[in-house]
Amino acid sequence: MQFENILVEIHGKVGLVALNRPEVLNALNDRLMDELGQALLAFDADDDIHCMIVTGSDKAFAAGADIAAMADYSYMDAYKSNFIGRNWEQIRSVRKPVIAAVAGYALGGGCELAMMCDFIIAADTAKFGQPEIKLGIIPGAGGTQRLPRAISKSKAMDMCLTARMMDAQEAERAGLVSRIVPADKLREEALAAAQAIAAMSLPMVMMAKEAVNRAYETTLSEGMQFERRLFHSTFATEDQKEGMKAFLEKRLPAFKGI
Ligand code: HXC
Repeated sequence: MQFENILVEIHGKVGLVALNRPEVLNALNDRLMDELGQALLAFDADDDIHCMIVTGSDKAFAAGADIAAMADYSYMDAYKSNFIGRNWEQIRSVRKPVIAAVAGYALGGGCELAMMCDFIIAADTAKFGQPEIKLGIIPGAGGTQRLPRAISKSKAMDMCLTARMMDAQEAERAGLVSRIVPADKLREEALAAAQAIAAMSLPMVMMAKEAVNRAYETTLSEGMQFERRLFHSTFATEDQKEGMKAFLEKRLPAFKGI
């Protein structure tokens, strides 16, 4: 596949996508979001890929949706083209894990894109924010929905209403990011995390992702029931037999993904 706005790399069983519009701090336009969706869905369909990483540059993960591209939109332009809905949610249909590796700015749509990933590893330079209010709009890709679920209502309100940025430390304290690493180690650490996941049983990884995501979509009792059904089904797999046998034999498991 030929891409204009992203760079795609494969590291063993890990597929990495780097957003690549450095001249505009990786501002997210339609073409970039189409390409990102295509690349991630292609990795998802590739049996040799078990985990993915989405990253940006040292200065910016993404400074938001492309303001120049949308400045003249009318309501009908946005509505009829299904702006955001058309291509931004493709990442949510990816069944294998997607890690966001964030350095520098993750603002507006950039913060929302990071939150669409399964977890966020932040460089100590990362800055998160929902500054849409300063542009006379509100977040449109989950800032008012995923942010309060990821952090508290109070902090999410603060971010969406004042447009202030959160540094990596505050983001970790608030639970938005899973860990902070030195900026010059971001790629290495994200790849190590992705490779650790890629060494697990792929169907178990996919089930764990599905079950955690269900926690955000349903009641506790329904979620527990969903988890239990999946949990019971793991005993039908060869990987469960291998994982437990390997533990008892004090050796590393060799998962086959079946
Ligand atoms: C288009 C952008 C951009 C954006 C930066 N640029 N962000 N272009 N869309 N979101 C461009 C600048 O115009 C500039 O181009 C170049 O990138 C470098 O940016 P500077 O502002 O010169 O850099 P700096 O002074 O370091 O400031 C960095 C910054 C600032 C704080 C991140 O660029 C900024 O505030 N950007 C906008 C952030 C924002 O409001 N994001 C939310 C967008 S709305 P030139 O040509 O001058 O060199 C949104 C809505 C989401 O995301 C709705 C659903 C997805």
